[in-house]
Amino acid sequence: MKDKKILITGGLGFIGSYIADELIDDNEVIIIDNKSTGKVENLQNINHENLTIIENDLNDVNLDELLADIDYVFHLAAMASVPLSIDNPSKCTKDNLDATIKLVDACKNNNVKKIIFSSSSSVYGDNTNIPLKETEYPLPKSPYAASKASCELFLKTYYEAYGLNYISLRYFNVFGPKQDENSQYAAVIPNFITALLKEEQPIIYGDGEQTRDFIYIKDVVNANIKAAESDYNGIVNVASGKKTSINELYKIICETLGYDIEAKYLPERKGDIKHSLADVSNMKKIDYEVNLNDFENQLKETINWFKTKL
Ligand SMILES: NC(=O)c1ccc[n+]([C@@H]2O[C@H](COP(=O)([O-])OP(=O)(O)OC[C@H]3O[C@@H](n4cnc5c(N)ncnc54)[C@H](O)[C@@H]3O)[C@@H](O)[C@H]2O)c1
Repeated sequence: MKDKKILITGGLGFIGSYIADELIDDNEVIIIDNKSTGKVENLQNINHENLTIIENDLNDVNLDELLADIDYVFHLAAMASVPLSIDNPSKCTKDNLDATIKLVDACKNNNVKKIIFSSSSSVYGDNTNIPLKETEYPLPKSPYAASKASCELFLKTYYEAYGLNYISLRYFNVFGPKQDENSQYAAVIPNFITALLKEEQPIIYGDGEQTRDFIYIKDVVNANIKAAESDYNGIVNVASGKKTSINELYKIICETLGYDIEAKYLPERKGDIKHSLADVSNMKKIDYEVNLNDFENQLKETINWFKTKL
């Protein structure tokens, strides 16, 4: 992507800042972020000549002004937390659904070429029909998941009714450097790494044989850009399509760090699902494929980042 004018909502967050860093040299990038969880330090170069940062809430800006001349919108701003959404469903609806509908409407009014929406595998809920296909009926179990599923429906509706191009990317367990260890997503990776680096005993809930589908941050960034460039409109799982058990993950992290510490096993947490795995065939529609052989190196990069941080 080159010489485009791009808006990234939530561009100071974990994923959005990587997208901004990737696009900034060849494009004009505008970030809007209320800094509720994001921070400018997430960006590589906050003084880049192609960068504009608007520190504001998506609900409080004139979206038609913001979207004038924008080619692509990467929409990541959200209350990105299941527990917070359960505590405060109306704020979740305001930040995730209402703000998205207003944004999508402004995209339509300003002839934006495409909007790339950050959705979530949480829309599948407890569906055990794995590997999970995008055509499965959504079974949200939290206001957060319901907001993501509803946004997807609005995006589809705007595509059908007004021809606004879109892709909803359903991320599975994203991990990588800069991830907040308190994040609800893939928290297991930062949790294991930080506990081991502090020489504390990491905790595994249940027997550790539960599996997850992990995807590296750089794959998520590339999938976003491919999604913007592709002609496809619809929903795409963003995942590796490979299941990794928590025990396997723990073993790889211990080996990489050269530690031999037994994990502490605690009873399974209520609400935790046993297996989560994506059907990744739709990723071909955006011409993207994850290299499955990179997992250990990606974990190494993540570990190295946490080492420098601690
Ligand atoms: N990290 C994951 O594994 C994962 C998985 C599935 C879906 N997602 C989705 O991807 C997106 C990005 O996630 P992340 O991990 O980077 O989270 P994050 O919390 O690091 O990023 C979200 C950003 O949006 C900003 N923001 C929140 N509400 C805003 C508002 N009303 N107006 C302006 N800015 C606002 C925050 O300050 C933050 O910078 C979110 O929509 C999240 O739901 C993430």
